[in-house]
Formats: sequence, C-alpha cells, structure tokens
Amino acid sequence: MSQAETGDSKDMLLSARGVFKTFGLNAVLKGIDLNVGKGEVLALIGGNGAGKSTLMKIIMGIYQPDEGELRVAGEKMNSFKPSAALAKGIYMVPQEPMLFPNMTVEENVLIGFKENTGTLRKRLVQIMDDIGWRLDLTRKAMSLSIAEQQLVELLRGLLRNARVLILDEPTSALTFDEVESLFKIVQDLKEKGIGIIYITHRLAEVFQIATHVAIMRDGVITLRGKVADFTREMLVKGLLPPNMDESEMKENGGSGCTINYEGLKPVFELQNYSGYGFEDINLKIYRERYWEWPGLWGPDERNWQLPYLEGIRSSRGRPFWTAGM
Ligand SMILES: Nc1ncnc2c1ncn2[C@@H]1O[C@H](COP(=O)(O)OP(=O)(O)OP(=O)(O)O)[C@@H](O)[C@H]1O
Ligand SMILES: [Mg+2]
Repeated sequence: MSQAETGDSKDMLLSARGVFKTFGLNAVLKGIDLNVGKGEVLALIGGNGAGKSTLMKIIMGIYQPDEGELRVAGEKMNSFKPSAALAKGIYMVPQEPMLFPNMTVEENVLIGFKENTGTLRKRLVQIMDDIGWRLDLTRKAMSLSIAEQQLVELLRGLLRNARVLILDEPTSALTFDEVESLFKIVQDLKEKGIGIIYITHRLAEVFQIATHVAIMRDGVITLRGKVADFTREMLVKGLLPPNMDESEMKENGGSGCTINYEGLKPVFELQNYSGYGFEDINLKIYRERYWEWPGLWGPDERNWQLPYLEGIRSSRGRPFWTAGM
C-alpha cells in the first residue's frame, strides 16, 4: 500500500482508519478509511442516509466512533471532542449557517476568541482581502444573504487557521454568481494547501472543483480516487445499488414502482427543464399519487429547486400547471 493510501505521508492532513458507528441496531459506518492531503479537495458523494454527515460529525468530535482512529497531520487524535478537533485545525461550515442574528459580522466571527479584538480584526480583514470577498463587519447577521452567512462561517474557520475545512453541501442555497465566488475561494484555499472535504449531491461540482472523489453507500466507501481517473458515468454507476444501471433507473422511474398512468392527466409537468446542477428534467405529477423524486438528489436539493419551479430564476424549459390545481 502506498503512503497516500495509508495516510502516513507528511502531506496527509487528515486520515480516518476503520471507523465504525452504530445507532441502536442501525450500523451506519462500517469501517471507513478516508484521506485528505494538503491542497486536496475531496468530494464526498453518496445517497441520503449513506453516512456522510455522521462521518463528518465524528471528525468534528461531535459523535464518538465505536471503533476507529483519526490522525491529523500524522498525529493520532486521542479524544473525540469538538474542542480537540478545533485545536487540530479541523473546521466544518455547516449547510445551514448557525449565526447569532442580532450580532454583527465581526462579533459572530470573533466570538470564542481570547486574543485582542484589534489584532483579530486586522487578521480578519487580511483574510477577506486574501479571498477577495469583503463583508461590512458592522452588519447584523440577520441582514446577510445565505452566501454571506456561509462566508462568515468560513471566516470563523480561517481565523482559527483551519488546515482541514469541511463544507457540507455549500452550494445548495446559493445563486449562480455566489457559487462562482465560492468556487474561487475553494480554489484559492486549495492553492494555500488547505485540505477540503466537500460534500455534494451534484456530480458536475465534482468535476468543477474536486481533486479527489469518494463515494459512500450504506456506510462503506465503495469507490475513491483522483477525479481525473473517473467519468460521470463511472460515478453514477458507483452511486447506484449493485446490479442496477442508469438506464434501468430511468425505465422504472427510480423507485421500482409499477403504477399504471394510462388515462391519467398530470397536474404538473416539467419538460426539458434545466438550471444550475440539473439538466433536461422531464417530470409529471399526478393528483393523489405518492410521488418521489427519482434520481440521485436529496431532499435539500428538491427544496433548492423550488425557486426554479416557481420561475424566480432563469432556466431552460418551463413548468406547466394544468387544470385541477
Ligand atoms: N443521531 C442519530 N441517531 C440515530 N440515527 C442517526 C443519527 N444520525 C444519523 N442517523 C442515521 O444514520 C444514517 C446515516 O445518516 P447521515 O445523516 O450520516 O447520512 P447522510 O449521508 O449525511 O445523508 P444526507 O445525504 O441525507 O445528508 C441514517 O440512517 C440516519 O437515520
Ligand atoms: Mg448529511
């Protein structure tokens, strides 16, 4: 096994070995091995309930693993506590930013630091200059867009000299321009040697910004390697249950359902609908039918697409609301 695979290399910022976690009778993580090196962006993808967030919470010291070992820059973590993870330079930007709405940007970023505020403020301004995204430090958090709130979360991590950043579905609530800005920041952090774990449901993002990819299914990493070694089709295949291919998924609507739709009129229809992160979606919704969105998206993705369905953002194709709604 190579150094990169064992996680023993000096450039290996984070390595997890044989991580197991069970909730009650539910075995959620079944022996996870994962590495993140300096300047690597590891895209972690996998269906809902695969165990991605559980693994991140273990890395952040929020959950204790039943078994397994974590090393940061080669040093073994002896305790699983958020303070220990922070002290080692691991920081997670949660999908839903957790800011104090009545506090300013500066107060939200500096909270928990013991150093002199003036010195910290200078460093904060320097970090913002470096990443090229300036925020008015006196603004109240409640007036910030989701993208700006995520930036505040990111600044909290960077001010703590994070060496490993975890971004949990960071683009799910962002506009096209904001996604572009975020990608520039990720690129910049990568060049500075920070290791990033980037959780996403969007395969296109894997090819846009990640250097490495890992697929998680049912608590196991089923595929991993350099992004350059994979095609989209290989990743889709890796995400599907064994013995199922993409064409099969399209044919049976993704859920194996066998409802006869003959003679039924859809109440809502999408034809060749496209936008950021999805393309050429064709969909029909019938009255009084249980409907599950087929495909590889999670519930958050569905929420995120609602503005498209309501026509707020420009996209290709259009929705049809038919009689009876
Ligand atoms: N605190 C908990 N107590 C009990 N079960 C839990 C807990 N947290 C997670 N689980 C279970 O662990 C499994 C993995 O959940 P997890 O949130 O890690 O998945 P995920 O890959 O992040 O999914 P998603 O893409 O939907 O965010 C699920 O079956 C979930 O119900
Ligand atoms: Mg999750």
